[in-house]
Amino acid sequence: MGHQDKTRAAYDGVVELYASMFANRLETQPFARNMIGTFAELVRGTGNPRAADVGCGPGHLTAMLHDLGLDAFGLDLSPAMVDHARRAHPSLRFDEARMEALPVEDGALGGVLAHYSMIHTPPGEVPALLAEQVRVLAPGGLLLVSFFGTDGPEPVRFDHKVAPAYSWPVDRFAELLTGVGLDMFARLLHDPASERGFLDAHLLARLP
Ligand SMILES: C[S@@+](CC[C@H](N)C(=O)[O-])C[C@H]1O[C@@H](n2cnc3c(N)ncnc32)[C@H](O)[C@@H]1O
Repeated sequence: MGHQDKTRAAYDGVVELYASMFANRLETQPFARNMIGTFAELVRGTGNPRAADVGCGPGHLTAMLHDLGLDAFGLDLSPAMVDHARRAHPSLRFDEARMEALPVEDGALGGVLAHYSMIHTPPGEVPALLAEQVRVLAPGGLLLVSFFGTDGPEPVRFDHKVAPAYSWPVDRFAELLTGVGLDMFARLLHDPASERGFLDAHLLARLP
């Protein structure tokens, strides 16, 4: 079983619990909520409102992007998450897909949101996922990626409640964005004072 299969099985098993814990989470997270609002405004400004929420989970952020004026759709590895998202947001489109091979044509999107969806990907594979996200962005398109940030020199594996995950030194992740040809132009680091001690890291980049 590869790590994607393990992640899929893990999320398939916690859909209702995850949705009950996280589907309204941004109501109490003004930093993340406003960063997503900024992303949506910038995507609208490109004139191409088509946007993918990759690793969308229960679909709540796809719905938020839709409410913010984007033509948003959600993609996730977990069929049970996709099923939940479709039932929770019947007017929106959700499909089962892997971030490793997005079912989207080259250069089609004004924006890609990857909110805590690459946290389970082994660090060595993250550049390939970012390159795949770049492939589907139109010139001028925006990527907002959010993850657990740390100060240390290397990504650190930790026991996330659902599946093993990795926290990232923020500068290292920013270098990956630059490495796939994106211009990294904004970052928001928020200390949620959680027991785990990670920062909420949000990086916003644009395809030239
Ligand atoms: C921590 S949850 C985040 C869900 C949602 N973005 C949010 O912020 O609440 C991670 C999600 O990414 C999905 N995921 C993980 N690896 C993936 C991959 N390689 N391709 C597609 N989805 C993936 C999982 O199935 C899960 O729904």
